[in-house]
Amino acid sequence: MIDLSVHIGSLALQNPVMTASGTFGYADEFKEICDLNDIGAIITKTVTPHPRPGNPPRRIVELPYGMLNSIGLPNVGVESFIIEKMPFLQTLKTNVIINVAGTDEEGFVFCVQRLEDVSGIAGYELNFSCPNVKGGTSFSSDPGIAERVTRNVRKTTRRPIIAKLTPNVTSISEIGRACENGGADAVSAINTVVGMAIDIKTRRPRLSTGTGGYSGPAIKPIALAKVFELSRCLSIPVIAIGGIACAEDAIEFLIAGATAFQVGTVNFYEPDATMTIKKGLEYYCQKNNIQKIADLIGSIQLKEMAK
Ligand code: FUM
Repeated sequence: MIDLSVHIGSLALQNPVMTASGTFGYADEFKEICDLNDIGAIITKTVTPHPRPGNPPRRIVELPYGMLNSIGLPNVGVESFIIEKMPFLQTLKTNVIINVAGTDEEGFVFCVQRLEDVSGIAGYELNFSCPNVKGGTSFSSDPGIAERVTRNVRKTTRRPIIAKLTPNVTSISEIGRACENGGADAVSAINTVVGMAIDIKTRRPRLSTGTGGYSGPAIKPIALAKVFELSRCLSIPVIAIGGIACAEDAIEFLIAGATAFQVGTVNFYEPDATMTIKKGLEYYCQKNNIQKIADLIGSIQLKEMAK
């Protein structure tokens, strides 16, 4: 038996596979396809203080190596989330992490405060990085704001907090350090890369909001570089996200320094990807005589690196 377990602060994961927010609904949509309890952690679509309809269509554009989205954080709001979505999530034996966001700094605290008495929640992911709503990336573009919001949430909960970062900044490590100083247990990186597509017949942007967030295989090298950078400058774990579509992708991120990883866009075209990736991790470990996956974390060999 290979030991696939990893730790994110006080959170014990049976394996490092997590689902990325917004790509796995509220998990019940996947219950016929995946053994949900076999996934290390399930992260829900973002929940906000009040219901949101999301952005007008068109909200998704498929591109050759990835997907552009501008969904706009549609959700039922935290009150209805507790009534409508939590009962199923509470039946799961694996870790359930609620992704939360506010339109302002107080909104994060509001959601977490409201969820504190609800059982079946293993932790929170703070969505500091949605590029599709006004000010959505501001929480992880300014280190002062990132630290303050994290600290205010930290005062509200003892549950683990993960800060989800945008790559659309000059220095992601500066923002990561701010979240660590504010009391985050981990950071997750990267959220989508701001991108655009234009219809050359109408000459109009293909997304209703003009720009959106680009995800999928195309962003994997960008994500890998950011995860590598973060893992070298932070003391807290880094959770990788960005174009992970197979076990080999995930293994690259672990070697670069990620403690765990989130499976995102691939869920849309290969809905059992979490299962396949977990099996692939076991296979890789068996083949390479690795007893504990944790031994892979940060095992990158840098001796001949030129810079
Ligand atoms: O538009 C969206 O709902 C995307 C959210 C995100 O990228 O965090």
